[in-house]
Amino acid sequence: MTTVLKLGGSVVTRKEDPETVDADALAIAADAIAGALGDRSDGPDRLVVVHGGGSFGHHHADRHGVSATAGSHDAAALSEIHGAMGELNDAVLDAFHERGVNALPVRPLSVAYRADGTGDSGTDGATDGDDHSGTDSETARLHLPTASVEAMLAEGFVPVLHGDVVTHRGRGGTILSGDEIVVSLARSLDADRLGVCSTVPGVLDANGDVIERIDSLSSVAETLGASDATDVTGGMAGKVRALLAVPTPAHVFGLSDLEAFLAGRAPGTVVGGPE
Ligand code: IPE
Repeated sequence: MTTVLKLGGSVVTRKEDPETVDADALAIAADAIAGALGDRSDGPDRLVVVHGGGSFGHHHADRHGVSATAGSHDAAALSEIHGAMGELNDAVLDAFHERGVNALPVRPLSVAYRADGTGDSGTDGATDGDDHSGTDSETARLHLPTASVEAMLAEGFVPVLHGDVVTHRGRGGTILSGDEIVVSLARSLDADRLGVCSTVPGVLDANGDVIERIDSLSSVAETLGASDATDVTGGMAGKVRALLAVPTPAHVFGLSDLEAFLAGRAPGTVVGGPE
């Protein structure tokens, strides 16, 4: 059983305070993960974690005018965004290690890139996750080789990736969101389950109630707005669109339901997957 889990940046950081980890929330997430891996009878045996940017990535990206589509050739600016994400990745890894979770960092900038259009299929072949569904970058093709992630899983490690800056051919560097990463990984690892742990208990309708199941974006487009705080990679509509593009059923839920998700239950909203 392979499970891909995204921890939203807004869950593990305080999104309004630059570069501030939400230590309590991170502890809850790390406890849930440690518990699930410790009890493999109903927990995932192969787990990949991807965390978002929250107050570490987005405000640097915003300040430098870099988004999923707006690129930059300023290496210092791109390194600053990447560096901030590295700090958050260290904090997540520390919390995991303190609880005995065998987690290792995987930094997307070093292995992934994007290219616009369909003419460039890249050079790294079948191990790529090709993502045509990410946020605003409809024509951008993501190349995210997963050989190292698979080797880590085979050795019993928990790879921990994060939203990052990636080289984008013809645009310099752009932002790769954690949502795009989990979608790509779910495909290339042929994952059984995909979880998106968010600050809300699921995808909400106009009345603020959790929508149980979403099978198409058109059915919910009107009710999905953008994120309130600075978010260069799009709000819930972008997430749902990306999640609908993979065959793996996706679950969107809040932090208090992470344990239930990891135990195999289906809290929050189920997006796509088999009927
Ligand atoms: C953004 O990742 C990464 C950067 C801004 C570098 P996400 O878009 O997945 O982050 P959250 O979960 O919305 O904070």
